[in-house]
Amino acid sequence: MDFILRKAEPRDVSDILRLVKDLAKYEDMEKQVMLTEKELLEDGFGDTPFYHCIIAEIQGERRTDGQPVVGFAMYYFTYDPWVGKQLYLEEFYVMEQYRGLGLGSRLLRHLSDLAITMRCSGMMFVVAENNEPSIQFYKRRGAEDLSQEEGWRLFRFDKDSLVKMAAPAEE
Ligand code: COA
Repeated sequence: MDFILRKAEPRDVSDILRLVKDLAKYEDMEKQVMLTEKELLEDGFGDTPFYHCIIAEIQGERRTDGQPVVGFAMYYFTYDPWVGKQLYLEEFYVMEQYRGLGLGSRLLRHLSDLAITMRCSGMMFVVAENNEPSIQFYKRRGAEDLSQEEGWRLFRFDKDSLVKMAAPAEE
C-alpha cells in the first residue's frame, strides 16, 4: 500500500474531526465529542498550537475511492518533573479497512523518532480498559501498564468543578 505520513495542515481539520469521531465511536463515546472544525483550526494552527497531528494519506489510484486521509496520530508535549520532556499520544487511529497493513506501526515509528529528536524520556497515553486489541498492540511494542504496575488513577475536574473553584466574577 502506497501511503505517506505528513504533518497536518489547516485544510485537514475536517478529516481530523471525522477520524476523532470514528475513534470515539469505536470506543462507544461518540456523543462526548463536542469539538468543531473551527476550534480544531484555532487550537492546532494558531501562534501557540495546543496539539499536533501526523496524517496518514493514501497515494496513487486508491486516492480516488473514498478518503485519502485514512489514519492519524494527535500528540503534544508534556513535562514530568522527575524525568523531563514527554510526548503525549492523545489520539491514534487507522480506519478499519486499512488496519493490519503497518500504518499504525509507521505512525508510532515516526512519533518515536520525533520524541528522540526532542530528547523526550517517554511517550505517554491512556487506553480504555476494554480496548484489549490496542492494549496488546502497545504491550507487544514494550509499553508498560502504569495503572497496574504503579497504581495511578486518572482524574479530571470538569468545567462545573472549575467554575465552582474559580474566583467569583467581580461585581
Ligand atoms: N485490524 C487490526 N489489526 C490487525 C489486523 C486488522 N484487520 N490484521 C492484522 N492485525 C495485526 C497486525 O498483524 C499487527 O500485529 P503486530 O502488533 O504483531 O505487529 C497489528 O494488528 C496492527 O499493526 P499495524 O498494521 O502496524 O497497525 P494498524 O495500522 O492496524 O493501526 C491501530 C493500529 C491501533 C491504530 C488500529 O488498530 C486502530 O485504529 N484501532 C482502533 C482504534 C484504537 O484502538 N486506537 C487506539 C486507541 S488507544
